[in-house]
Amino acid sequence: MIHSQVDLHRDFGGVVPELAARDHLERLPRLLDMALDEAGVKPADLNRIAVTRGPGLVGCLLVGTGMAEGLSAAWSLPITGVNHLWGHVYAAMLSRPDLEPPLLGLVVSGAHSDLVRMPRHGRFEVIGRTRDDAAGEAFDKAARMLGLGYPGGPAMDRLARQGDARRQPLPRPSLPGLEYSFSGLKTALLYRLRDLGEPDDQTRADLSAAFEESVVESLLEKLDSALDDAPANEVVIAGGVAANTLLRRRAAEVVGERARLTMPPLVLCTDNAAMIAAAGHFVGAHHPATVDPSLGWDA
Ligand code: KG4
Ligand code: ZN
Repeated sequence: MIHSQVDLHRDFGGVVPELAARDHLERLPRLLDMALDEAGVKPADLNRIAVTRGPGLVGCLLVGTGMAEGLSAAWSLPITGVNHLWGHVYAAMLSRPDLEPPLLGLVVSGAHSDLVRMPRHGRFEVIGRTRDDAAGEAFDKAARMLGLGYPGGPAMDRLARQGDARRQPLPRPSLPGLEYSFSGLKTALLYRLRDLGEPDDQTRADLSAAFEESVVESLLEKLDSALDDAPANEVVIAGGVAANTLLRRRAAEVVGERARLTMPPLVLCTDNAAMIAAAGHFVGAHHPATVDPSLGWDA
């Protein structure tokens, strides 16, 4: 049971925080009823309430924790505050129940491009991150430049399937170590579009394919070195951008036989509540539900 706010924000070309929070408030009670119905469970069947405590938009987080506290009091259930980023990794465990840490994770979303090692449940060490834009943010901005509207990532994915990256090659970001950077690539696209004037549909598809290829190969190049630096038996790639068609195909090739790769099914890659429930289940009692909009990976 997922309600998408895409239609709500489309006309604005991005998420409007006030509208997002109000929509959470209006829809959550009904969504909860629908989810319980669909799952065929009653409050008495539950043993815990998991709720996102951050990172994210403060208004939305407050609506969630407020509701969780109300339910906790009404149903006499404990609450666990969950780190949204952890949730993306735990989504992989929903699709593969025998998956256990230690693992190497790549979380690619609208705000993060993080390489993490997870030595055990509830413990994450960031070994690589982006210096500027996140991968999803880069896709969204590039899509806007190409006139593809919002949300940009899925639109670019679709258009790229019609394009040929070799006809409009774009630079591949390359920083030393495990750091990412996508702002130079974005600028390269901007200049290319300026030079081209009014590109036709095929050229826009070629540009989408080239942009996608640069982002995907850059993401996987660092994953590849991380795997070389310290081998891992399990690799997880998750977050909204993990829904990308090229990333899914190339990740399997790059990881190869070195580790078992898990990428959650599309519906568990983009934001959802099931991943928060999974994280709450594994992490258990010790995380309070105090809202922290700029939470890192540490708690
Ligand atoms: O994890 P997510 O749903 O929300 C955040 O926590 O940010 O990720 C959203 C991001 C957006 O930037 C969106 O454009 C991107 O994931 N995205 C994609 C695809 N589907 C979603 N990017 C590339 N290809 C896709 N198929
Ligand atoms: Zn997310």
